[in-house]
Amino acid sequence: MAEIKQIRAIKGVRDILPPASAAWNRVEQAAREVFATYALSEIRLPEFEETELFARSIGEDTDVVSKEMFTFRNLAETSEELFAAITKLFPDQFVKEPTPEPIRSFHAELGETVPEKGMRRISLTMPMLAEAMAHGELLSLRPEATASVVRAYIEHGMQTLAGDVKLYYIGPMFRRERPQKGRYRQFYQIGAEVLGQSDAPGIDAELIEMLFAFFGRIGLEGLTLDLNSIGCKECRPKYVELLRAALRKVSPKLGADSQRRIETNPLRVLDSKLPEEQSIIEGLPRISEHLCEDCKVHFAEVRRQLDLRGIAYKLNWRLVRGLDYYMRTTFEITAPGLGSQNAVCGGGRYDGLVELLGGPPTKGIGFAIGEDRVMLSLEAAGKIVAEPVVDAFIVWMGAATQPAAIKLAQRLRGAGIRVEVPPAETKFKKALGLADKLGARYAILIGENEVVAGKFTLKRLADAVQTSLTEAELVAELSKN
Ligand code: HAM
Repeated sequence: MAEIKQIRAIKGVRDILPPASAAWNRVEQAAREVFATYALSEIRLPEFEETELFARSIGEDTDVVSKEMFTFRNLAETSEELFAAITKLFPDQFVKEPTPEPIRSFHAELGETVPEKGMRRISLTMPMLAEAMAHGELLSLRPEATASVVRAYIEHGMQTLAGDVKLYYIGPMFRRERPQKGRYRQFYQIGAEVLGQSDAPGIDAELIEMLFAFFGRIGLEGLTLDLNSIGCKECRPKYVELLRAALRKVSPKLGADSQRRIETNPLRVLDSKLPEEQSIIEGLPRISEHLCEDCKVHFAEVRRQLDLRGIAYKLNWRLVRGLDYYMRTTFEITAPGLGSQNAVCGGGRYDGLVELLGGPPTKGIGFAIGEDRVMLSLEAAGKIVAEPVVDAFIVWMGAATQPAAIKLAQRLRGAGIRVEVPPAETKFKKALGLADKLGARYAILIGENEVVAGKFTLKRLADAVQTSLTEAELVAELSKN
């Protein structure tokens, strides 16, 4: 017989199995609870969007957009999609004119609103049709979610909502990066964004305070906060030119990647981890010395606001971040136990991104936590303990006792107690052994005598202490713990 090919998960993606999945849920629950105390609400976003959304917000020249996105063409499959493609490609071929009378009366007969303007095709040739069929829009799996949040903010007119719009999201992101420990092609982020009219530095500091409240809640320790300001559209372009000029002078000493970036995105040279480039980078002009007055004042106030909250940080003038939408405040948090991929959170201000995507003038700031890395760091610190999934294991003996076992299980589960009940008769010893292996704290023994007496034996597995209890007493006893 031919061997059956075993299908495995593709490169860079992983399954998160129990009991780890329970620890992931606890971390996500902690985020929900802590973020709620800072008045954030959850936004659920699509996992794919038009490619152009990411290209425009993250930037065409960034690694994320130019190399790492999973992009596909959504070819027209239905007549509606084909029609949409044709109207988009050949708008001149269509004219709007009043809905013809037969169609008006048809709609009217059905009791539907009569469309005011109909659309009439003038001419469509076969080559045009072929082009529309091959067209399809470009879609990408989301490499991050800030762009989607901003798109949703504009699309739903959220600027009219009261106060700042404070949103968080939890979910998978996709980047075609070279997989290694802490770096995956499908990874999970817990992110937050604050959008509104104000860029008060107190917002920046409170967001960072919230991050530390969250990390404190999940017990992640040894964190370092790196902080920088990368200026605004006034001062950054001047600094970038200065940096470019300085880099051109040292260009022959730089590696190929950095040499290329001198022209495309010189700020990214500062990100370089190549040992031979470090001393050269240290000699380059620093943004902190070239901020305009407004940015200087803003950054000084961000720092004062962090001090007010007792949050320690390290100034890092090289922290420019890999996405183009940032301005002013940028930050990153690193954690121990992770090797080279040690950033567990990155974020910053992106005033102007809403306008760039066609929305009203809006300020924005946010962050995203890499959940995979948080879990790895917690694991390295021995903070992930597998918890049993069963409170009580019902051992029923003899077919006549099964109805009582089923009824009792239903009652206990209704009270929120986690119950395992064997679906088929199981030998007493085997059932107790399984209860033990599953880490159940109790076994409930049901024999024919118990059914007759209406009392069940509750056995605490740690010390084998047994008590005889009615159904109501059992619920009360197990609910206590
Ligand atoms: P980012 O720095 O690209 O920022 O990603 C944030 C975090 O996601 C990283 O610090 C890291 O923990 C995690 N991460 C990124 N790529 C991977 C990967 N391939 N595997 C595992 N973890 C990864 C953003 O995504 C911005 N949207 C953050 C933001 C929100 N800025 C403002 N608002």
